[in-house]
Amino acid sequence: MMYGEWPVTEQQQHAPTPGLENLLSEERRFSPPPDLATHANATSDLYAWANADRPAFWAEQARQVLTWDKPFTQSLDWSNAPFATWFADGELNAAYNAVDRHVEAGHGDRVAIHFEGEPGDTRTLTYADLQREVSRAANALTALGVSTGDRVAVYLPMIPEAVITMLACARIGAPHSVVFGGFSAEALYSRILDAEAKVVVTADGGFRRGAAAALKPAVDEALDKGPTTVNHVLVVRRTGQDTAWTPGRDVWWHEVVDTASDQHTPVPVNAEHPLFILYTSGTTGKPKGILHTTGGYLTQAAFTHLNVFDLKPETDVYWCTADVGWITGHSYVTYGPLVNGATQVIYEGTPDTPDRGRWWSIIDKYKVSILYTAPTAIRSCMKWGEQWPDAHDLSSLRVLGSVGEPINPEAWMWYHRTIGGERAPIVDTWWQTETGAIMISPLPGGTTTKPGSAQVPLPGIAADVIDDETVSVPNGSGGYLVLTEPWPSMLRGIWGDPDRYVDTYWSRFKGIYFAGDGAKKDEDGDIWLLGRVDDVMNVSGHRLSTTEIESALVSHEWVAEAAVVGATDETTGQAVVAFVILRGDATGASLPADEVAAQLRAHVAKVIGPIAKPRQILVVPELPKTRSGKIMRRLLRDVAEHRVVGDATTLADSSVMDLIAAGLATPKA
Ligand code: WT7
Repeated sequence: MMYGEWPVTEQQQHAPTPGLENLLSEERRFSPPPDLATHANATSDLYAWANADRPAFWAEQARQVLTWDKPFTQSLDWSNAPFATWFADGELNAAYNAVDRHVEAGHGDRVAIHFEGEPGDTRTLTYADLQREVSRAANALTALGVSTGDRVAVYLPMIPEAVITMLACARIGAPHSVVFGGFSAEALYSRILDAEAKVVVTADGGFRRGAAAALKPAVDEALDKGPTTVNHVLVVRRTGQDTAWTPGRDVWWHEVVDTASDQHTPVPVNAEHPLFILYTSGTTGKPKGILHTTGGYLTQAAFTHLNVFDLKPETDVYWCTADVGWITGHSYVTYGPLVNGATQVIYEGTPDTPDRGRWWSIIDKYKVSILYTAPTAIRSCMKWGEQWPDAHDLSSLRVLGSVGEPINPEAWMWYHRTIGGERAPIVDTWWQTETGAIMISPLPGGTTTKPGSAQVPLPGIAADVIDDETVSVPNGSGGYLVLTEPWPSMLRGIWGDPDRYVDTYWSRFKGIYFAGDGAKKDEDGDIWLLGRVDDVMNVSGHRLSTTEIESALVSHEWVAEAAVVGATDETTGQAVVAFVILRGDATGASLPADEVAAQLRAHVAKVIGPIAKPRQILVVPELPKTRSGKIMRRLLRDVAEHRVVGDATTLADSSVMDLIAAGLATPKA
């Protein structure tokens, strides 16, 4: 791995449309609205309090946002760094905190989930309903042989059962491993193997883009690949489509969950008991099982949800558009909002079904007051035009959030004006699967915001931008984003691979967490994120590994060598562009280039999932390599972004770039 190669280009920062420079100038500032400045949950004095004694600050938050079965007496233990524990002698249950205690407090009739299916069907679950559903699911999982500590794989569409299943697992102390429905059977299989899951919870399918898309066949295919630890597959009937069935192994949700008792006692677990594993892409081919535990994770998920979005549980309607297959769905659909007793919207489908106004009609219908989404979605909506949001009443919105990638100032301004009516503050939240919860973000009632900057570490969080020599850079300079103190929701490790945990995050800079992002500090010391500095791409806010896609490509019999880069894309932030060398004797070598590309794209979708499909595959005669054999991705990025190719003097063979350019100019056809 090499970090010297700096991939952040001006293009990657989404240079504004000519004529907008003035509007988007770095001088541009937005003060908090007056009502928020006086009534926000979080005030600026939290920073000083947290700075004075971080572990004590978090201990106080842990007591305030959670109910403990056994109170803890210790906060952080960092004596075995970089392995941390938080609140380690305390006991609690995550599902009890997310559901039961709200019912006990008299809020059983409060809506927890307004579910909107893509076809337009709806379902309302109060906290009392959720308590019964989660209890039934916990009883059913127990009957299927799941005990405390066993892992459960979850492969579901965005339907209430996804949240119910996660909470049912938490209720019995069985860590869940949610696999995004857009991942392939092969990806699901490797995750089932790695986590040694005992049960898979899935659905016949889900509704997307106006049609029923099947899910269960991928589970069947995964389990056919070889022996696994899976004893049962629990299947939700969502679409009603025909589904192949393995008797004895497969069970219907409506047969075993709906008939189970709705009484269940949550199992108190230790604060450091694993709550879930979530796989994410790294710089190598093998995804990492990021491990999160219970007490610290829930503390920070709930604290940040309450303060960054200024949640008022009695009156707000919150909507996070993320899928539970990603960390955003874990922390800001399932755990943060429910632990805080929020009312939230869950939507199953795509934003353009049946038309491009679907999101805005949902906001209007449920009077959503807090919206949390990704820049890629905002840019798509921008492209579709203002007529769609303008046709709906969005005046209920009072706080807007952004996550997943740097938000370009132009998209920020559109979000601010067209969606937020110039009233709602925008919180640009930086964090990662590994950090578990938001780390860097404005506070809506206290921070004067700057379009395009995540700005400041939250109270209790210590971040910095440093150079290669581990020296903090001065204001106005760029470097690597690092986290200099442990935090409650930090990953506790990589499932089954403690060495990789230390190597990946704690070895580049001694004793400091290396996030993998480039960043700069502006003249005020505010942080601007600039994108990844490693071999990780960010496509539509989803993390993809160049190496993983390269491995998928070379696993195809036609491919001799492959190199993948993330090229700037107006809508998706980055897009996957692959360069491949075909084997001379392969059938593909005699086929037209677009046919080869189509076959290889389908192959990547099969190995990893449709989300990893390259936007473009270029068949080339050679790849640019240094004398030590390292592929110079910087040069390939230049080609992919249609730029004049940069300095190629370190290439082993400097004519290679000419060959590539010539090959591209004369496509095989
Ligand atoms: C990577 C983490 C955090 C949940 C969604 C993605 C990028 C995330 C921002 C932001 C600039 C951002 C970083 C980070 N990222 N949020 N507000 N501004 N970049 O989680 O899949 O673990 O990816 O997403 O590059 O390292 P993830």
